[in-house]
Amino acid sequence: MTSALLSLLGITYPIIQAPMAGTATVALAAAVSNAGGLGSLGLGSSNVEEARTHIQALKQATAKPFNVNFFCHQPLPEDEARNQHWLRLLAPYFSEFSASPPTQISAGYPSFLDSPQMVDMLLIERPPVVSFHFGLPSQAVITALQQAGIKLLGCATNVAEAKAIEAAGLDGVIAQGVEAGGHRGVFEPEQDLELGLFGLLQLLNKHCSLPLIAAGGIMNGQGIQQVLTMGASAAQLGTAFILCPESNANAAYRAQLSSAKAYDTAITAVISGRPARGIINRMHQALGTHHAALPVYPTAYSAAKALNTVASAQNCNDFAPFWAGQGAPLARALPATELMAALIAEWHQACSLNY
Ligand SMILES: Cc1cc2nc3c(=O)[nH]c(=O)nc-3n(C[C@H](O)[C@H](O)[C@H](O)COP(=O)(O)O)c2cc1C
Repeated sequence: MTSALLSLLGITYPIIQAPMAGTATVALAAAVSNAGGLGSLGLGSSNVEEARTHIQALKQATAKPFNVNFFCHQPLPEDEARNQHWLRLLAPYFSEFSASPPTQISAGYPSFLDSPQMVDMLLIERPPVVSFHFGLPSQAVITALQQAGIKLLGCATNVAEAKAIEAAGLDGVIAQGVEAGGHRGVFEPEQDLELGLFGLLQLLNKHCSLPLIAAGGIMNGQGIQQVLTMGASAAQLGTAFILCPESNANAAYRAQLSSAKAYDTAITAVISGRPARGIINRMHQALGTHHAALPVYPTAYSAAKALNTVASAQNCNDFAPFWAGQGAPLARALPATELMAALIAEWHQACSLNY
């Protein structure tokens, strides 16, 4: 399976740099692809023209395959009364910075399910690989993308999601364990089983015949070899790449990830409206893992971003959404090419110890 997936994706090493909307950059993805892995861009929060520009820039920066990723959440109707209630609830935090909440919040970016223009753009640009988070597009879109020669991956956090990805005819399943940094790929957040990668891989080995890509808490070559031993064909690493100088992480994000705070990650939905793992921040501490008044994703995220904007303008990063996985303290501040070389060397060493 390992080499089958590598040939399918056209990569040399079983290493995928996770798509990280807002954090992964063209330079990061290009460096990973040029080093023989699969570099990825998270385009879930980009509009069509931004996505096209990024894909074209990445094509210029690498002749190797790469992946672009989109959010397939079920679009939910806005509830203005709920949004206003949430803004009133957040008002005391804004007032700590002598600011008021925005008068209105909205989603900010559409679901891929609601963006036929994004599909049209992909059919023209034809990136080598496209992956989906939070669900799947329609069968018609899947068929059209495949007919354009694009390989497709879907993220599963449980057996039912992996079976849906298999039934839809995609090329591989990203098995995302609860250890993972960033948003859980779960299709229905209220039904999140929060399976660890150890259990998830064993379940998917039994119930899914597609190649598996393991994600969650993998920080070094030993970890890559361990998930391959457990039946995965490749590993997808996100947090491991955040400290690369090529990432978009700002100085505060880098400082927290390099500090003792990196040991304290947890999952909460109160920041964006969907469950996501990050370094515990004030919103998480004050409002918990979920809240009855929470607006829908990503409308809730617009409020959290507005709060972080006023706080960080006064040098307070207590409200920043610093997404990171359970392995966060192991992140290395290395240029992406050097990090890839280290991961490959560690993986080769772990392979030789295994046999
Ligand atoms: C900062 C950050 C942003 C992320 N953004 C995305 C995204 O846009 N799309 C996606 O499919 N996954 C996203 N993820 C999740 C990753 O695909 C992957 O599941 C996760 O990084 C694996 O766990 P790790 O961070 O412990 O390596 C993100 C993760 C992080 C850390």
